[in-house]
Amino acid sequence: QEDVFKKIVSHCKEYGFVFPSSEIYDGLAAVYDYGSMGVELKNNIKQYWWNAMVRLHDNVVGLDSAIFMHPTIWKASGHVDAFNDPLIDNKDSKKRYRADVLIEEYLAKLDEKIEKEVGKAAKRFGDSFDEKKFRETNPRVLETLSKRNDVHTRYAKALNANDLNDLRQIIIDCEIVCPISGTRNWTEVRQFNLMFKTEMGSTSDGAMQVYLRPETAQGIFVNFLNVQKTTRMKVPFGIAQIGKTFRNEIVARQFIFRMREFEQMEMQFFVRPGEEMKWFEQWKSFRLRWHQLLGFGNENYQFHDHDKLAHYANAATDIEFLMPFGFKEVEGIHSRTDFDLSQHEKFSGKKMQYFDPDLGKSYTPYVIETSAGVDRIFLSIIAGAYTEETLEDGETRVVLKLPAMLAPIKLAVLPLVKKDGLAEKAREIVADLKFSFSCQYDEKDSIGKRYRRQDAIGTPFCVTIDHQTLQDNTVTIRYRDTMEQERVTVDSLNDFISSKTDM
Ligand code: GAP
Repeated sequence: QEDVFKKIVSHCKEYGFVFPSSEIYDGLAAVYDYGSMGVELKNNIKQYWWNAMVRLHDNVVGLDSAIFMHPTIWKASGHVDAFNDPLIDNKDSKKRYRADVLIEEYLAKLDEKIEKEVGKAAKRFGDSFDEKKFRETNPRVLETLSKRNDVHTRYAKALNANDLNDLRQIIIDCEIVCPISGTRNWTEVRQFNLMFKTEMGSTSDGAMQVYLRPETAQGIFVNFLNVQKTTRMKVPFGIAQIGKTFRNEIVARQFIFRMREFEQMEMQFFVRPGEEMKWFEQWKSFRLRWHQLLGFGNENYQFHDHDKLAHYANAATDIEFLMPFGFKEVEGIHSRTDFDLSQHEKFSGKKMQYFDPDLGKSYTPYVIETSAGVDRIFLSIIAGAYTEETLEDGETRVVLKLPAMLAPIKLAVLPLVKKDGLAEKAREIVADLKFSFSCQYDEKDSIGKRYRRQDAIGTPFCVTIDHQTLQDNTVTIRYRDTMEQERVTVDSLNDFISSKTDM
């Protein structure tokens, strides 16, 4: 699976989806650029989200708030004091780690050990293998499981109590080694604030320290009444926005999974106090459906309820996708109570209450938040779509089986040969269709090679212009996933491709 992940990373680079940032200067850790295919895919993901959230819901409206915000906002939201990760250094390798991640990786290793044991036994016993019984009785499995559960309980307790010493003690007791040097020489655990700071205004007139926003959500909270009044929305209603977010992550790994500059698609749904759990459940199932409709297999998504709730939440769950490196969070759904609006009321001195005309009274709404990472969803889509197939002639074909509506290029138009007026005819078709969807014209190399290139970027349809086209205005259309071809009229292309790729 690690192999697959490496292949995905290099595929993304080779075909213009994702480049390491500042590559000619040896890169900048955990920052990435999206290439010409990547930006199209990313825009399409955002459009799919916006359509589902804003366009299809009468009671959800959009917003685009600034990245810079008044610094007191981050005091009020709790980010200045509590948006921290526990950091630990290995004294020998001088490498820095997140203490919680080290422990979680250790737990995952114990899980893996159990699965290996089960796998081995399954092979040994064949059809007569009783997996449930084996798990319940095998001494080695039981021993590992009991150790795992002990560590997990201790870890959850340490997290909840914010006990940094105990986090370190778990690392020491479990004899967790530094992945680089293999040594066990750890420093104390310290809290590290993840917000990037910068200055606004020139120093002569007294520069103000500001932060790059670590979530887009606060821009929605502070505009709650502006939006409510200008749209005349009544609770329950939601505000959605897509935008850049910045976190000074300690561990920068796994490609675009954990970045220092990334994009979020967030929606805050304002509800009457006491009704939040109903809406929490409703948005959970809506958001899961949104992911599942991409078509990568419902079994590859799961909910993961949080052991430890963030400082603002009374319920929280993640939607996880089965990445090549295990089930990982792509979206968080949180019941944030009235924490944020109340805090902003307290810190700004301005009323953040809503007058409910149906109840005839004012209150501070409760909030259900859906918070999705564009880049993580991008990664889940590439991972789900990446396929290697062995063809009848023994050759392998790499194809991105992207949902047609998200594909960067919807239609490739390929003249069989450049001469005899075929190239001109092909360009004419592109000139006509490019107003409806993204098309690519390609005349270089053999038709087989051109099909492969389109497969690799996930183009769902290729049409080939041949000599017959000039006579009867028909083309062959080739389907990416089945590689089947059929003959259709040029006039039918627009409606056909539009119907297959519309969101
Ligand atoms: N407003 C709530 C909030 O920000 P979060 O769980 O911290 O919640 C929401 O983040 C989503 O943002 C995550 O589910 C993930 O998809 C994405 N995300 C968070 N940190 C990220 C990072 N360092 N790199 C890429 N995506 C990230």
